[in-house]
Amino acid sequence: MTHESIPQLAAYDEATLDAAFRELLLSAQRESGGIATAEGKEQFRLYWLGRKQGRLKSIGEAWLKTAPAEAKKAIGQRFNQLKEQIEQTLEENAAMGSGVARAADALDITLPGIRPGMGAEHPLIKTLHEVVSIFERMGYSVGVGPEVETDYYNFESLNFPPNHPARDTQDTLVVAGQEKKPLRERLLLRTHTSPVQIRAMEQQPPPLRLVIPGKVHRNDAADATHSPIFHQVEGLCVDTNITFSDLKGTLDHAMKELFGSSVKTRFFPSFFPFTEPSADVQISCIFCAGKGCRKCKHSGWIELLGCGMVDPAVFGFVREKQPAYDPKKISGFAFGMGIDRIAMMKYGISDISLLYSGDMRFLEQFA
Ligand code: PHE
Repeated sequence: MTHESIPQLAAYDEATLDAAFRELLLSAQRESGGIATAEGKEQFRLYWLGRKQGRLKSIGEAWLKTAPAEAKKAIGQRFNQLKEQIEQTLEENAAMGSGVARAADALDITLPGIRPGMGAEHPLIKTLHEVVSIFERMGYSVGVGPEVETDYYNFESLNFPPNHPARDTQDTLVVAGQEKKPLRERLLLRTHTSPVQIRAMEQQPPPLRLVIPGKVHRNDAADATHSPIFHQVEGLCVDTNITFSDLKGTLDHAMKELFGSSVKTRFFPSFFPFTEPSADVQISCIFCAGKGCRKCKHSGWIELLGCGMVDPAVFGFVREKQPAYDPKKISGFAFGMGIDRIAMMKYGISDISLLYSGDMRFLEQFA
């Protein structure tokens, strides 16, 4: 800012005064545009608004001294207005200018942004949701139950005889220190999702179509295919005239939805205390399309789930609370599948422990 000479007023009519003051305002505004620092702002203020040697003060004194008395009021008013306008310009431009200066120091807005860490579904949960939604599309609702269960719901009501090997602590993880309680009240970690069948039937009369996803526990030593914690999806359908054909059709459709329409299913006689008859379901090998490979032990088939018609003895337990479960009037089927194995097959995972390791290098592959 160089000290400019004081402009001369050519006349004292309103138009001439307005033009002269507009010229002063414009030159102040031009100069204030370059202000980028606090010192710059102070310099500008001193130059234009300084009380002793400020430009407004000098010009004001010069103009008023020579002005005729009748013009002094008009000039004085315009100086007051101009002072306010310059102060305002100074605040606005300085705020913008220093804002830009500060931002430029701290942040380069042309740099690429930091990508936020987006979460993704765990492959197990993804598979679980996929299976559940297949059954939801067939009109099933979703049920859940506790992981710490009583012996009654996990075994007795599911028709496990008192000395059934599954009750052995070799397989079942039990809560310690309950010897004083009657057997049926003792707590354990549920070994399957089937106890939720009983809980659901006690809660509501038939008809019932329910899928039950959940975590289960067994006292298994961990290896590539075993984990003491794993996941199941259970299914239960109870209504009048439910037959084994309904079970076959339902599971065949579900497996085709899950693995592709070319997958075949076959049913083998099996045994579960709570279903009669019972079956194991195999699907044609999804790796070799049934030709035989290492994955299916050259049989062309992979065993995937257990199922059967609900044993009338199970309805017998439920009837204590819901008399409508009369095996003479209704029938039903149930099935259960291991989600870990399905996830491992679908995603080509060879070791089950990877699903529980929390290792980001593994998990990020599914994000
Ligand atoms: N609960 C059985 C298991 O864990 C699976 C199953 C469920 C079988 C429902 C038949 C009917 O092995």
